[in-house]
Amino acid sequence: MKIAVIGTGYVGLVTGVTLAEIGHQVTCIDVDKEKVETLNKGISPIYEEGLTELIQKNLDGGNLAFTSSYQQGLQGKDIVYLAVGTPQGEDGSADLTYIHKACDSIAETLQNDVIIVTKSTVPVGTNSYIKKRIEDKLAAGIKVEIVSNPEFLRQGSAVYDTFNGDRIVIGSDSPEALRAIAEVNAPFNLPIVQTDLKSAEMIKYASNAFLATKISFINEIANLSERVGANVDLVADGMGMDKRIGRAFLNAGAGFGGSCFPKDTNALISIGKEVDYTMPLLESVINVNNKQRGIIAEKVIEQYPDLSGKQVAVLGLAFKPNTDDMRDAPSIHITERLLEKGATLRAYDPVAMDNAKKVLSNKIEYVKDIESAIADADLAIILTEWDVIKEFPLSAYKKYMKKAVLFDGRNCFTIDQVAGTDVEYHSIGRPVENDA
Ligand code: UDX
Repeated sequence: MKIAVIGTGYVGLVTGVTLAEIGHQVTCIDVDKEKVETLNKGISPIYEEGLTELIQKNLDGGNLAFTSSYQQGLQGKDIVYLAVGTPQGEDGSADLTYIHKACDSIAETLQNDVIIVTKSTVPVGTNSYIKKRIEDKLAAGIKVEIVSNPEFLRQGSAVYDTFNGDRIVIGSDSPEALRAIAEVNAPFNLPIVQTDLKSAEMIKYASNAFLATKISFINEIANLSERVGANVDLVADGMGMDKRIGRAFLNAGAGFGGSCFPKDTNALISIGKEVDYTMPLLESVINVNNKQRGIIAEKVIEQYPDLSGKQVAVLGLAFKPNTDDMRDAPSIHITERLLEKGATLRAYDPVAMDNAKKVLSNKIEYVKDIESAIADADLAIILTEWDVIKEFPLSAYKKYMKKAVLFDGRNCFTIDQVAGTDVEYHSIGRPVENDA
């Protein structure tokens, strides 16, 4: 199939490159000329495992191209994927400005019938609107059909997830369009769920909101466990063995961040408001998360009410491992809070440091490895569970730090691993270990 993908953000780029990899002829369109130039050189603008290799391979193979021209990109295409951003608007709802712009550009440029496939996460009903908006401006005689095809990719493993996902969801009110898009996806060899347009839109929001709910739930259990002397790891393991519950997404920590869970849960609440339906469960999920993001900082402050003159090592800044994404990262709030209390911060992240410098206070010093971050520090805080941080020997903290005090916001180590070391270890939902 000849496919155009509009938007080369994280979703669009992974979509375009993987569709090329399974044999389609793909042109990715982005209005950002500089980005297009970089991509045409085979360089990925985002850090995503395996992506650069696939970009280069498919550019070399001639089935992938990047352009900033809608004219060039849409020419002769059968299918057009919409993968532009839908950021959170000021009122919590999804901001559809980029969708509207892309629709108008498609309508102005299109010369033949196409199927539009929406990858962007959009409120229920938006796909029908997209179809109408394009049709209203389209030259006479050209037909478009629309399919909703939400993505379930985790940042950091988006390429892997594309080839190994649990399901592909496609929704449309046109049986022919559904058939065509099922065929496009057949080489992925994954179960395909076919629905109507609105149900597909809802599946995306409901899935993300449910996963966010699991995280806030376990964080609440963690906070309670801590107070009654239970260990949340063991609780989650015990709960997770019940197949109806499942162990995934029951890791307690500094709360969820990133570009999807906070935004999509808020957007779902907004969708409810539009039809006069309140969603108190999801509102609590957000409230619990907002509080949870600050908990590790509050633990530090409880122990050291005045942090002035204290050297604090911050290990990990990205919202989660294997990404350089800082969107809604708990590190933003936590570093701010510690600076407010007078701490001196020295931070390390294996890949997110450049992005972190753009969003965090310029009072933070950035260093190139864990050793430099913890050198002479009074305490260290883990905010992202990078492998390099998990594999750093606990015995080394004592060697480098003034005093080996570790506040772990991601429960990187089990209590057994920490027991018997010299590290005073504070974590989430578990007893303090080696308390001085
Ligand atoms: C998520 C969804 O998983 C994906 O299906 C959707 O398309 C986009 O949103 P992503 O945001 O990339 O993906 O990361 P994910 O691995 O799901 O983690 C989201 C956040 O939840 C992170 O901040 C992570 O640290 C946190 N999390 C996750 C927990 O705190 N505990 C867990 O058990 C799992």
